[in-house]
Amino acid sequence: MKISFRINQKDVSLDLDPMRRLIDVIREDLGYTGTKESCGEGECGACTILLDGFPVTSCLLNAIHAQGKQIHTAEYLAKTEKGKLLIDCFDETNAVQCGFCFPGFFVSSYHYLLNDGEPNLEKIKYALSGNICRCTGYTKIFEAILLACDRIKKQV
Ligand code: FES
Ligand code: FES
Repeated sequence: MKISFRINQKDVSLDLDPMRRLIDVIREDLGYTGTKESCGEGECGACTILLDGFPVTSCLLNAIHAQGKQIHTAEYLAKTEKGKLLIDCFDETNAVQCGFCFPGFFVSSYHYLLNDGEPNLEKIKYALSGNICRCTGYTKIFEAILLACDRIKKQV
């Protein structure tokens, strides 16, 4: 079946089994390997992408769910101004250890940064509740996002 969508600002049209997992299409067919797979069951958030601007776990979606939609992965968001700022904050607060969870946290926190003008720790925890990190204990991750929120506020 022909499935057409836009990913990272590029139009694509592929002949796909509509039930093929979206994460496999993104990683294997399109080469955006920044999207990671860990649990494969919708529990860890490593595979988070933005689908029409909302964070979703791509391991739980099928190719058909992308039909006519807009997808952004960590690779694209990392090149934006806010994405670069966010990466700097994760770096400065030492919020990344093994790094496997990072693309998922990055996409979820990018969405949070874009959409909450009045950030606080509780809201950040809620926004990232679908992402699991086995290394950091989360404190540094929350610090990174608070720092990014603070820097964005100062820019406005
Ligand atoms: S790999 Fe998709 S939620 Fe864990
Ligand atoms: S830094 Fe290792 S799982 Fe998060």
